[in-house]
Amino acid sequence: MPEDTEEGAVELEARLEEQDAFEPPAAFVEQANVSDEGIYEEFEENWPECWEQAADLLDWDDDYDQVLDDSDAPFYEWFTDGSLNASYNCIDRHVENGRKNQAAIRWEGELGETRTYTYLDLYNEVNEFAAGLREVGVEEDDVVTMYMPMVPELPIAMLACARIGAPHSVVFAGFSADALATRMNAAESEYLVTCDGYYRRGDPLNHKEKADRGLESVDHDVETVVVDRLGDVQEHSLGEHAHDYDELVEDHAGETVAPVERDAEDMLFLMYTSGTTGQPKGVKHTTGGYLSYVSWTSQAVLDIKPEDTYWCAADIGWITGHSYIVYGPLALGTTTLMYEGTPDYPDRDRLWDMVDRYAVDIFYTAPTAIRAFMKWGADYLEGHDLSSLRLLGTVGEPINPRAWKWYYRHVGGEECPVVDTWWQTETGGMMVTTLPGVGKMKPGSAGPPLPGVSADVVDVAGDPVEAGQAGYLVVNRPWPGMLRTLYNNDERFIEEYWREYSNPDRDEWVYFPEDGAKIDSDGYITVLGRVDDVINVSGHRLGTMEIESAIVGVEGVAEAAVVGGHHDVKGEAVYAYVITEDGYDPSDDLRHQIVEGVEDAIGPIARPEAVVFTPELPKTRSGKIMRRLLEDIANDEELGDTSTLRNPDVVDDIAAKVRSGD
Ligand code: PRX
Repeated sequence: MPEDTEEGAVELEARLEEQDAFEPPAAFVEQANVSDEGIYEEFEENWPECWEQAADLLDWDDDYDQVLDDSDAPFYEWFTDGSLNASYNCIDRHVENGRKNQAAIRWEGELGETRTYTYLDLYNEVNEFAAGLREVGVEEDDVVTMYMPMVPELPIAMLACARIGAPHSVVFAGFSADALATRMNAAESEYLVTCDGYYRRGDPLNHKEKADRGLESVDHDVETVVVDRLGDVQEHSLGEHAHDYDELVEDHAGETVAPVERDAEDMLFLMYTSGTTGQPKGVKHTTGGYLSYVSWTSQAVLDIKPEDTYWCAADIGWITGHSYIVYGPLALGTTTLMYEGTPDYPDRDRLWDMVDRYAVDIFYTAPTAIRAFMKWGADYLEGHDLSSLRLLGTVGEPINPRAWKWYYRHVGGEECPVVDTWWQTETGGMMVTTLPGVGKMKPGSAGPPLPGVSADVVDVAGDPVEAGQAGYLVVNRPWPGMLRTLYNNDERFIEEYWREYSNPDRDEWVYFPEDGAKIDSDGYITVLGRVDDVINVSGHRLGTMEIESAIVGVEGVAEAAVVGGHHDVKGEAVYAYVITEDGYDPSDDLRHQIVEGVEDAIGPIARPEAVVFTPELPKTRSGKIMRRLLEDIANDEELGDTSTLRNPDVVDDIAAKVRSGD
């Protein structure tokens, strides 16, 4: 079809619009790491031993005795008594296998400067920094916090920690000083690796000032290492307990540190994420199961091969970056690309320019980014050669069919499969998605559970719903990448995630991810969104309770309720309904303080889109806030049932205020 004529393009658009299933392109299937649909049956028949295939992707110091130990469920253990080192698996073995000169990390700063670390370079710097960390006092099992933007020193520090058996806890650089302190206190972390600053939309941003403010609220002494990213552009000074990263590395130039043998179940890292209560949850991931699982999914789903240039345009401060920028790709010995900045600097074609220049093979991003690209228009892709791309992926939130098709057509040129991967911080790696070399793709639906993963959609009683009905997504069996517990809180781990069913077919523990979903007659799962008090803003997971507690901390606020409302680009946006205290009037000034309060407590990502002052919140007779109604208002939808409200009139008043933008 003459796609380059306007008519041709319109016709193509119409054809795509109607098409609701897409077969994987033959050229892709031919070269795919996994192309045999028999893999589903093979894993099913041989469960849990099938997961040996994942463990086999790694080099173990000591072989494991048992694939899965479920004797203390839901505290499952994987690859028991095996031992290994994650840093060895991500670096040394590739150097030993004659691939030391291959690029491991290619990095581009926002202003265009570039750095390439071969596997040998990575080996050297990780060893030197590991020696430096030991000098600073870090010992095996000490939690090292990292509060860093997208600079190569972040994965280097993570791998240096892994080398000496010190779990890391990475805090997203966009989080506030308070958020850093909360996480360091919760993890009793006595070490921090941070950075002086970084570039955002061309301007240097002072990050160290935020880290220093955070440290003021940490209850114990902390040794800090500071990476000098900005040089002369922004001077900084180091206090008594602070060390310069470059000096530490230089002091240990040429030193090597033997990788510490870690038990498969030893903690590799902690990652704090949002949940139903105000306190973030410290999700614990282990060395053997996690690393096996992210390696296997990187191979089977992302189709990564060592010779690829692979780009996951996420931030390492989130689980996506841990699993699919750092650990999975490096364990497979590929080249992983990192970008410091925003996709619209200096212009809205920055990412396509990079795909072209680095000849990226695989590109993985979030629907919120795709929606922004769509809004900016396909013209920004013109003039960039994207033919190196072989596979596209999305993660983090539901993707609507229109955005999926836009991505498939304009970025992938209809030649790249798109994998819509559903998973969570807690799952460690992908759980529900098509295998790109096997299954047909249905835009808007993530796909079937991966081989070996058993997921379903159930009703409140735990019984599977019929095809097409909405229900709760559940995972019926453990998997190697699963979280093992919440740090220092086994009770909350069980309470939040697990139900024990007495159903005769299902006498195992069942994992609840807190997502709503539908399943179709082919077993394809469409994830609808969270069913708890978590909202998803631009693919970033935020707890409404955390935002509420920041708002009620502002002087003049008596009560607040936060919900997610639909947003064209962000997916969801924060809507805050606020009651002022006696003696305080609603004002723009107070609104401003509320926004600032949220930014201080969490970060700019949680900034409310709308702050609506109201004399009352819709409450049931028992005093519970009816969030569903507030969501309806935020979405400008017809209001649901208000008959159980103590104060039904208030709903129309609030809706009128939102509509008038008051
Ligand atoms: O609601 C689901 C949504 O993101 C949540 C997990 O957020 P987080 O732990 O921050 O991890 C994000 C990156 C893995 C899930 O509970 N989510 C994630 N992927 C998808 C998704 N919703 C729909 N489709 C997806 N592909």
